[in-house]
Amino acid sequence: MADYLVLVNGEHRLPEGYENTVELVTVKNCIGNAYTVEKKTYEAFCRLREDLLAHDGIQAELISSYRTIAQQQGSFDNYLNKFGLEYANKYVAKPGHSEHHTGLAIDVGILHEGKVLYIIEDLMSVDHLFQVIHKKLPKYGFILRYPKDKQAVTKIGYEPWHFRYIDSPEIATQIAEQGICFEEYF
Ligand code: DAL
Ligand code: ZN
Repeated sequence: MADYLVLVNGEHRLPEGYENTVELVTVKNCIGNAYTVEKKTYEAFCRLREDLLAHDGIQAELISSYRTIAQQQGSFDNYLNKFGLEYANKYVAKPGHSEHHTGLAIDVGILHEGKVLYIIEDLMSVDHLFQVIHKKLPKYGFILRYPKDKQAVTKIGYEPWHFRYIDSPEIATQIAEQGICFEEYF
């Protein structure tokens, strides 16, 4: 049985064997890129996506999901080489300490002017669209994992695109309404 409230951050490593407790599925986004993600997380994302398309005219697309420790290392090295250590530490968790290892974290891009945005600068430029998405996250059991005003607590930069599935609209609503981050919930 998966622990949907598992806390993974700089201080809390992915629990041993966690991956064996979740059911992963592989799916494609609208441009055919394949992503592996925990099953209920994906089903909840699909409901959120439909809501956003129908009511807000926003097309949300997966741009990252489950990552192995080796993939996280690759991502860290890539950021390190391109942007330097400070930037890499701000936006990429240490391998073994990323929520992406759980399958419960998704990075969501937006289809904007014919392109699925995925680069940090481009995603930041549509923050007004993310604000609309953020309001709907709790209803589908997601939290905004790295809020702007909690960078000192999460030790990660503001990531309007990174959503964490916790399988409880009630707790997600409580976290959003109280304006706390996941660390503070615990
Ligand atoms: N971008 C988040 C912090 C991660 O790498 O897990
Ligand atoms: Zn992420």
